[in-house]
Amino acid sequence: MPIPTKSLANGFTIPVFGIGTWMMGGDFIHNPDNDDRADIAAIKTAIEMGVIHIDTAEKYAQGHAERLVAEAIKGFDRSKLFIVSKVASENLKHPQVIESAKASLSRLQISYLDLYLIHAPNPDVPVVETMQAMDILHSEGLIRNIGVSNFTIERLEKAQACTNNKIVANQLHLNLIFREPERKGLLAYCQTNDIMFIAWRPVQKGALTDHGTPLLDEMGTKYNKTPAQIAINWLISQPNVVTLSKMTRRQHLKENLGALGWQMAEEDIERLRREFPDQKNVSDAVPLI
Ligand SMILES: NC(=O)c1ccc[n+]([C@@H]2O[C@H](COP(=O)([O-])OP(=O)(O)OC[C@H]3O[C@@H](n4cnc5c(N)ncnc54)[C@H](OP(=O)(O)O)[C@@H]3O)[C@@H](O)[C@H]2O)c1
Repeated sequence: MPIPTKSLANGFTIPVFGIGTWMMGGDFIHNPDNDDRADIAAIKTAIEMGVIHIDTAEKYAQGHAERLVAEAIKGFDRSKLFIVSKVASENLKHPQVIESAKASLSRLQISYLDLYLIHAPNPDVPVVETMQAMDILHSEGLIRNIGVSNFTIERLEKAQACTNNKIVANQLHLNLIFREPERKGLLAYCQTNDIMFIAWRPVQKGALTDHGTPLLDEMGTKYNKTPAQIAINWLISQPNVVTLSKMTRRQHLKENLGALGWQMAEEDIERLRREFPDQKNVSDAVPLI
């Protein structure tokens, strides 16, 4: 099934759902005992099932996640894939940004990235320095689009002021539980300013996949969907929002794909926004600073 896409006014187009690679190959440290074959197979299966948006980062498993992606995409038409990587916050000085991008491309064995993100801000590096390097990567064709991740509105505006290229996306922690970008106005800001909001961790690492939350179960019954499908669809039914989940298990991939191709009613989106229990305002992984 082809995955639906969303577009910005400038033509930037991104699939509404992608596969993430955090915890493939290790965490921030490469785990030599990782089951690489299972991770490669998971990405391959996802592509075979229509998932072309693959999200990785130089920081994931010390670059090893990118190597796993390289293995997985062999044999597929690269031009049909949408590959995203990220430069780590400790590498945001001009020369390091260029080096990091080239190293990611080399590990991924591809000649360009569809989208390159600043993984998180670094208050010690003037953002103008980073953006100038991003512009060079863009002009050399090594990256097709520039984005950020875990950026507040203020940081996003500062970064945008330093480049003539449009910052097309901000990748942030948003799901039914974690609402920090909503409360900080980032969701509305992206929607108003024609920026794609890429929501990471849509099922909160599995916490949103079980029955037992009455509101989630009620919505599941109404739409004949599982909790995970409701959680994912709640995101992508909102303007400018796309998402990505890490799924090594085939049944997770199949289940999550059932979140696509239908639209939740506005009143249900809003009810889940208001009434979902135990909402948290600060990310459990990368707090917005
Ligand atoms: N920019 C950033 O700072 C940032 C931060 C975090 C994440 N990300 C990106 O966002 C991606 C997604 O976030 P995430 O991986 O942290 O969280 P997630 O996708 O919410 O959760 C992934 C975990 O949930 C399990 N899972 C997925 N679908 C499930 C289902 N239907 N039922 C039960 N369990 C299910 C997966 O299991 P299996 O793997 O066993 O199938 C995996 O353990 C990451 O992989 C990464 O690419 C970006």
